[in-house]
Amino acid sequence: MKIISTPSELKNYLKEHKQSIGFVPTMGALHEGHITLIKKARAENELVVVSIFVNPTQFLQGEDLDKYPRRDEADKKICELSGVDVVFLPQAEDMYQKDEVSILAPKVRGYVLEGHSRPGHFSGVLTVVMKLLNIVNPSRAYFGKKDAQQLNLIKLMVEQMFMDVEIVAVDTVREKDGLALSSRNIYLSPQQRQDALKISESLYLASKLVSKKVWDVQEIKTQMRELLKPLDVEYVEILSRDFDNIKEVILGHTVILVEAKVGETRLLDNIWL
Ligand code: PAF
Repeated sequence: MKIISTPSELKNYLKEHKQSIGFVPTMGALHEGHITLIKKARAENELVVVSIFVNPTQFLQGEDLDKYPRRDEADKKICELSGVDVVFLPQAEDMYQKDEVSILAPKVRGYVLEGHSRPGHFSGVLTVVMKLLNIVNPSRAYFGKKDAQQLNLIKLMVEQMFMDVEIVAVDTVREKDGLALSSRNIYLSPQQRQDALKISESLYLASKLVSKKVWDVQEIKTQMRELLKPLDVEYVEILSRDFDNIKEVILGHTVILVEAKVGETRLLDNIWL
């Protein structure tokens, strides 16, 4: 496995390889969710590239940029064991210059839901994803469905900027008790981890209601909010998979999203119905 730390070195290295490239962008602290992305990339491409970069531009002032878990050595080992060919591990100075061209998230879709609680966050995400995709030039790039809004915006960017990459959405990986895997779960105390289960429970409740033919979005949201009462809920939303408002759940076209703060930790989860 090759470790590369500068964009030019990676571009040069990949130029010599004419195979299909599967790319998994990450911010490190790799867990089973990332390994699932890597395995899918491994199965579908000849060369697999993983980037590990805690992107400063997607953190707002006062967020957890400084304490975001960094575990480069363990991450490299995980990549090696998962069959990764190249790990790209740049520093902020390799990725950003003083006077930057801006990539801005769309004014509506980038500023609702998580974008409402974290204004500007998605501009940072899109900027770094654009840079990474341009450096790696992959055939396919793999993103988790857990970050459903991020996934939706990346797909929009790729479409609207006429970029030549297939964006592959991969199912969320959960602990046995339902908690969606996230690098931020390590911030949770045992009690907070227990409280956090309300999030996935509220999503299971929603899918149970739908299986009983309760289609009305308001009705489902009210029952979910009741269950989520002990948490500091940022939003509970039921949207079409294109992130448009809907009044009724349409099977095969709906995403139900929750964001809640447990202590100081912001947790996201969703299900696709
Ligand atoms: O989902 C993430 O880990 C990050 O937002 C991403 C896509 C790697 C961009 O920094």
